[in-house]
Amino acid sequence: MTQIRNIVILTGAGISAESGIDTFRDAGGLWEQHRVEDVATPEGFARDPELVQRFYDARRKAVQQVAPNRAHEALAQLDRAWEGELLIVTQNVDDLHERAGARRVLHMHGELLSALCSSCDSRHEWREPLSERPACPGCGQPALRPDVVWFGEMPYQMDRIYAAIRRADLFVSIGTSGAVYPAAGFVRDAREFGARTLELNLERSEGSYWFHESRQGRAGELVPAWVEHLLMPS
Ligand code: OAD
Repeated sequence: MTQIRNIVILTGAGISAESGIDTFRDAGGLWEQHRVEDVATPEGFARDPELVQRFYDARRKAVQQVAPNRAHEALAQLDRAWEGELLIVTQNVDDLHERAGARRVLHMHGELLSALCSSCDSRHEWREPLSERPACPGCGQPALRPDVVWFGEMPYQMDRIYAAIRRADLFVSIGTSGAVYPAAGFVRDAREFGARTLELNLERSEGSYWFHESRQGRAGELVPAWVEHLLMPS
């Protein structure tokens, strides 16, 4: 095997499932309970801001009541130990990677515990409901929205993500269905730039075909085993 130095890890809702957070597309998932157009688009927010704020208020509250699981903890351990470049690109809006202790984390779809002001563009750490229309601490306007990326909006920090993918020797995707772009396309970019690619997911995903290797199982089991093997002295 070629020497691995630079690693990019993409995570999705499946890594937080064992912590008790609903995924989007599994049976009973969030997109079975709510219409994407209503709660995850700028148009939906313009139509009914209160409905959208209440949806994210409930999710913000829920994430503060759960804890990281063994998969988050294993990635945090890898982050601490890995001397080469490492970037955890998460599509998740929870803070479970950070609470497990990971530092090199990028939230490409934003964060539930952050509010974005539509009036002055400032961002603020936020734990309380937004449906009560609190004033923005920056400009005083009641214009705060969830700091999450909706369909039709540009994910965060794409330049930084592609720069890391270009340098990656190993690209690993964990707990994501491969249904949403641009994240779903990262595996092909990584391969094109010469990385080895590995998928860890409960079942085969829409993108499994593109990976050199795809392992099926629960993240809480697969991720610690993979990290242990990677950190094993050769
Ligand atoms: P999905 O709900 O689409 O996919 C979750 C994946 O995790 C599925 O393939 C499951 O099989 C897998 N899974 C479930 N439980 C698991 C477990 N215990 N261990 C390992 N895998 C498990 O969620 P995402 O792929 O994250 O975007 O969705 C991508 C984006 O679509 C989200 O960030 C969100 C959503 O619409 C926006 O809101 C912009």
